Amino acid sequence: MFALGLDVGTTGLKGLLVDAEGRIVADATAAYAPDAPHPGWSQQDATVWVKAADAVCRIIAPRGPPAAIGLSGQMHGSVFLDAAGVPVAPAILWNDQRTAAECDEIMARTAGRIVAWTLNPPRTAFTASKILWLRNNDSEAWRRTATVLLPKDLVRFHLTGERISDVTDASGTNLLDVRTRRWSTETLDALEIPRARLPCLVESPEAAGRLSARAADATGLQAGIPFVGGAADQPAAAIGNGVVEPGTVSITLGTSGVVYAQIPGVIVDPSGAFHTFCHSVPGTWQVMASVLSAAGSLQWWRETGGAADADPAEAVGTSGFAAIVEAARAVPPGSGGLVFLPYLTGERSPHNDPEARGAFIGLTRRTTRAHMARAVMEGVAFALRDLVEILTTLGLPIREIRVAGGGVRGGLWLAILASVLNRPVVPAATPDASAYGAAMLAMAHASGRDIASLARSWIRPGAPALPDAEAAATYDRVYAVFRSLYPATREAAHTLGAIERACTASEHAA
Ligand code: XUL
Repeated sequence: MFALGLDVGTTGLKGLLVDAEGRIVADATAAYAPDAPHPGWSQQDATVWVKAADAVCRIIAPRGPPAAIGLSGQMHGSVFLDAAGVPVAPAILWNDQRTAAECDEIMARTAGRIVAWTLNPPRTAFTASKILWLRNNDSEAWRRTATVLLPKDLVRFHLTGERISDVTDASGTNLLDVRTRRWSTETLDALEIPRARLPCLVESPEAAGRLSARAADATGLQAGIPFVGGAADQPAAAIGNGVVEPGTVSITLGTSGVVYAQIPGVIVDPSGAFHTFCHSVPGTWQVMASVLSAAGSLQWWRETGGAADADPAEAVGTSGFAAIVEAARAVPPGSGGLVFLPYLTGERSPHNDPEARGAFIGLTRRTTRAHMARAVMEGVAFALRDLVEILTTLGLPIREIRVAGGGVRGGLWLAILASVLNRPVVPAATPDASAYGAAMLAMAHASGRDIASLARSWIRPGAPALPDAEAAATYDRVYAVFRSLYPATREAAHTLGAIERACTASEHAA
């Protein structure tokens, strides 16, 4: 028996076909890139995702008939569809920062009670602020919007004709009563968002549509294959990485970097850094926090300063890092006194600052591109340490940290992370943990097994990367500097943002 997992990522759509023992029997990827037409914007023509889904399914279909299909995808993105199911505007993505004013509007309209209703304060990432932005800035497009879907649920709509989401992805909209796992009527009323424009909800392994005859033609798969609800990419990656009980914590090093823990009951982080969302094991919850540019920072480096070191044959999508990582490996920990702030698309956790900006601090005449590449990797690890330290203040046990995502490849980032956190970190069995978790949900449905037992029998994590005592001591000193740099540069970053917007506006006018 086979199950198919499809993950609608930020830089590509990944498909994994797995067998009943969790072995990967086929995989395929279709790469794409989001658009950034203005400073702080990140959007995508949503039709790119459906074409990518068809293409990936066509490659996988001949390798074996899946008994069920599971979806996962980047969180929070808003797909606005008209009554005929056609997008009325570009989808606004999780790392878009245009909605700061709408976050204030949400707090004002709900008199701050949104936190009690949804367990989460507004964030520029979350779908609710994106909906308000469309209504405030393109009222005609909002008037024509019949349904708002999340990215993976657009792919479901395309393949099944059903408008359905799951509670883990709905958690990231800021419109879900996360405690009861239902749309929050109070929030929808206060924000004047009609319930009819939102999809219905299921738990992650529950049935949610069947492959249509039209989609069967487009994909080469058999009509009628059942879909499960699936999960947002982080909750899918978590089960794909074995997080099926409190104590096992996962970190993903994808475009974003996420620290994720299942929680024993509902708790709320008073600092606001961690979100409280539904987990993909039915009836359970999790906390997670994101740094927005993790492997995204290294990808930026590969496309800019590090381009001369990248292998051009490899330089597509999430590949092309090997030569850069090899150069960085030769540089000792601490990157010759160079620190990188990874706030290339603003920062969500812990700073919640859409205007935060990246920086290299400590450049000298001796700094090489290899130092800079290593500093990028170390800076991301420091940003993740910020989150792990907050997690410990929530009183949650951390027995083991497992790391997934493209950044794990090559092992260097894993070693840096182990020394920066000064604890062992275990690589996931598959870096593509989101697609793997989606396939696991599909297999749970098809086989009648529960997620926890599937995760325990499928997942064989690799050997842990251990901290190096000398590197850890160096990193403690650099981390203290890193911690001081965001507050020290905050005002400068905000002023530079205003200057960038003014320059871009005059560029557009010229
Ligand atoms: C999580 C988040 C990102 C996206 C893209 O809150 O915004 O991790 O899910 O991967």
